[in-house]
Amino acid sequence: MIDTSRILCIGAGYVGGPTMAVVAAKCPHIRVDVVDINEARIAAWNSAELPIYEPGLDEVVRAARGRNLFFSTDIAGGIRDADIIFVSVNTPTKTFGQGAGYAADLQHWEKTARQILAHATRDKIVVEKSTLPVRTAQAMERILDGNPAGVRFDVVSNPEFLAEGSAIADLERPDRVLIGGHDTPAGRAARRIIADIYATWVPRERIIESNLWSAELSKLTANAFLAQRISSINSISALCEVTGADVDEVAYAIGTDSRVGPRFLKASVGFGGSCFKKDILNLVYICRSHGLGEVADYWESVVAINEWQQSRFVRNMLASMFNTVAGKRIALFGFAFKADTGDTRESAAIGVARQLLAERAVVVITDPKALGSVREELPEEGDRIECEIDPYRAARGAHAIAVMTEWRIYRDLDYARIFASMEKPAFVFDGRNILDHKRLHEIGFNVYALGKAPLRHV
Ligand code: NAD
Ligand code: UGA
Repeated sequence: MIDTSRILCIGAGYVGGPTMAVVAAKCPHIRVDVVDINEARIAAWNSAELPIYEPGLDEVVRAARGRNLFFSTDIAGGIRDADIIFVSVNTPTKTFGQGAGYAADLQHWEKTARQILAHATRDKIVVEKSTLPVRTAQAMERILDGNPAGVRFDVVSNPEFLAEGSAIADLERPDRVLIGGHDTPAGRAARRIIADIYATWVPRERIIESNLWSAELSKLTANAFLAQRISSINSISALCEVTGADVDEVAYAIGTDSRVGPRFLKASVGFGGSCFKKDILNLVYICRSHGLGEVADYWESVVAINEWQQSRFVRNMLASMFNTVAGKRIALFGFAFKADTGDTRESAAIGVARQLLAERAVVVITDPKALGSVREELPEEGDRIECEIDPYRAARGAHAIAVMTEWRIYRDLDYARIFASMEKPAFVFDGRNILDHKRLHEIGFNVYALGKAPLRHV
């Protein structure tokens, strides 16, 4: 008999922390323990300064922590005491050996499986929350089935679809919750137990049950489809620039077709984040392993366009600034991979900064939440980069501003004041198309937006 009054989550990161905080807040009758090997991270979860920035997270954690939500490093104890174990450890791209640069690195995942095996003394449901290659559950079952104590493990796939910056809203009102299990009586029973937890706050019709492999593959596919939309519109942004079409107007026109829909069609300097690139490359690797070369090439081109869009952005900057940025101060507005997060993993700003530095520019980075990781992301650049929390000070004496992240605050700045403090001619490169370009041009800026004709004075 599975005890449904306790849940353990292994991995207290961007997914494990917020997801379990919402489960605890919505299900006061369930005790939720979140464990991690990273002591500093757990200490932060137990402090007033949470380890990640996410709108609404503080309130949810404050409501449940110490009541039915607990953060600790006691992994063994957690495994012993809970029969339902969510695993939400990181699954980055492999950097070594077979599949390097493409396949998912499953070492943390396998370590967790072995820890569960070592400490479990009664039957458990193991829930895959991390994003994993299709058929990972089979490998997990092989490890778990090797237990001498006769403990029964049922593996369920419950991939997470939250996006950073809107994690709490996504968790409280998800489009859907996907739960995959084996089509056996035991598999269906395990799946039902997990579905019942979500049903406390998610309408039943939004809880989808499927077979294990479909659930695992749906997660990689969902990210590949989302990223593909961005690469598609970004590729068209280049065509707009040479034809006089406006990418926002094109996106609006195609997005009003209900078969396409309006979301995820915002042209940008390129998608970032810890998941799109990693998950598509993993999909590419899986396709190649199955001899599906054309399918692999098709999806890999989504990543290739993303990288091309970043370098194209820098090439455009160079061309419009008289083919040299050497010694010129350039202010990057935003360093996070998107607004409302401090996360900088795979942020387009990193690649842009690197290419500008290679051209010997002086790069000044401003961001309300992400300055802490500039040195970590660009370690080789040392003192050639300046960090400045105040965007007005960042722009002072600069030749150009380049918007990297769609933070709301950048729309509302006093650009006349900024213009007055900059070198002339002053340039704005809007890598997110969030500013009022006409107004900036009137102030005196030379304005370059994505997928739009430039507004120039020089
Ligand atoms: P993360 O790196 O923020 O967190 C993972 C945590 O797992 C880390 O704190 C790490 O210390 C811990 N960990 C690693 N090995 C461990 C072990 N053996 N025992 C205990 N703890 C261990 O990663 P994340 O962003 O939360 O992503 C986790 C998974 O969820 C990934 O597979 C990712 O693809 C997927 N995902 C992420 C997002 C997102 O927006 N970040 C959204 C959906 C799915
Ligand atoms: C993405 C998915 O949206 C989530 O559903 C998924 O759970 C998650 O990946 C994951 O598996 O980790 P996330 O990476 O947090 O979430 O953020 P998104 O909102 O998807 O943005 C990704 C990148 O695309 C950002 O750099 C964003 O600025 C960019 N983007 C997004 C665009 O350039 N244009 C758009 O129209 C939308």
